Amino acid sequence: MRMRDGNGNDNFIPKDRYISRAFAELETERLWPRVWQIACREEEVPAAGDFVEYTLADQSVLVVRDQSGQINAFHNACAHRGTALALGCGSFKRGEIRCPYHGWRYALDGRVTEVVDAHEFEPLPADLRARPVRAECWGGFVFVNMDANAEPLLDFLDPLPTLLAPYRLEDMRFRSYRTTVLPANWKAVVDAFNEGYHVQGLHSQILPWTDDVSIEYEQFRTHSHYGRLPHARRRLQPSPRLGIADDDIDEAAILTGLVTGLGGAFLKEERELVDELVSAGLPRGELLGAYQARRLELLASRGFDVSGFETEQMTSADDVYWFPNVVGPIYPGSAILFRVRPNGVDPDSSIKDTWVLEWPRADAAPRQLERRFYADWTERDWGEITMQDYDNIGRVQRGMKSRGFDGLRCNPRQESNILHMHRVIDRYIYE
Ligand code: FES
Ligand SMILES: [Fe+2]
Repeated sequence: MRMRDGNGNDNFIPKDRYISRAFAELETERLWPRVWQIACREEEVPAAGDFVEYTLADQSVLVVRDQSGQINAFHNACAHRGTALALGCGSFKRGEIRCPYHGWRYALDGRVTEVVDAHEFEPLPADLRARPVRAECWGGFVFVNMDANAEPLLDFLDPLPTLLAPYRLEDMRFRSYRTTVLPANWKAVVDAFNEGYHVQGLHSQILPWTDDVSIEYEQFRTHSHYGRLPHARRRLQPSPRLGIADDDIDEAAILTGLVTGLGGAFLKEERELVDELVSAGLPRGELLGAYQARRLELLASRGFDVSGFETEQMTSADDVYWFPNVVGPIYPGSAILFRVRPNGVDPDSSIKDTWVLEWPRADAAPRQLERRFYADWTERDWGEITMQDYDNIGRVQRGMKSRGFDGLRCNPRQESNILHMHRVIDRYIYE
């Protein structure tokens, strides 16, 4: 299942990597147990005893905050007969975990503290515990890794901590948390958000305000990103594919389309700001700069630290792919992250979380996190662009199974992040 077609083409990805159980099992054995992955946000375990169960394929890990404030993780299996110690999320009252089956007790770091009728057992190891999983935090995320010998988290993430420092992800909080199930391999779902090549095919309605052609792609050792790099600049111009003459470009219409089309990332006041600037009738070419400067002021006036941004980043996203399974746009002040996991060991199904994060306003009351689950993605309207993506993702998975299809022929520039993902997966599977 190495990448390359019969002609030695390196940009060919055999379809088995997406549809075969054998490859899914290789990932289950070699990738997932050895890679850092985002289990939850720190804000999900704010107090001692709070826990989140992180499930991945057929594995379950508990993330628990202990009395000292430390976040620990361990395999969710009782050292007696394997019962899962906790499900979902919640809080261990009284600072201890009790297995529901025979009542063994655990400290919040996974150490066994009491074995019922211990004297009847042959001597048990003194350090009996639920097996630890490494847990390290960055940017407000709790990462876990089942491999005790894995590289440190910051080495794995490099250079994302530097690249993303101005966005202060650690200051962001959930605006919403929604989960659904999609009928496709987890990688097919990630791929759908990791390139701009499909904009002209699937989302042509946004071409009037999206210059898809000048999107750039950059791969790091493990992760990658795309956007108007290096500073994620957005130029206020339609796609060159539309062939609109410079004199005919309507900047006001483009700016309005941008802030309404990407509604989630732009708040109501910012839409009002666009209305105000548009009606001020600025000379040609000045509208975007004026909006960017005002948006920066607006964020600063809310007490946010915007010192790390250049003005022209105010209308741009940096679309970051956090290997292996998180992707999404990060804006000044907000971020949308898609976390995609295999649904059990089924190569044709995945679980997708949509996390919308934002800098909370100082005067806003803390929001109660509500996690919503949709067993079928069609149960809800996810917005026009995402509905197009979701509808298409199932077609991709079905189409790949065709006897007339051997593998993916990727565009070496615009789909370079996808190719890179497969090469990094191979590092885990074959090295
Ligand atoms: S399985 Fe947990 S106490 Fe028996
Ligand atoms: Fe899309």
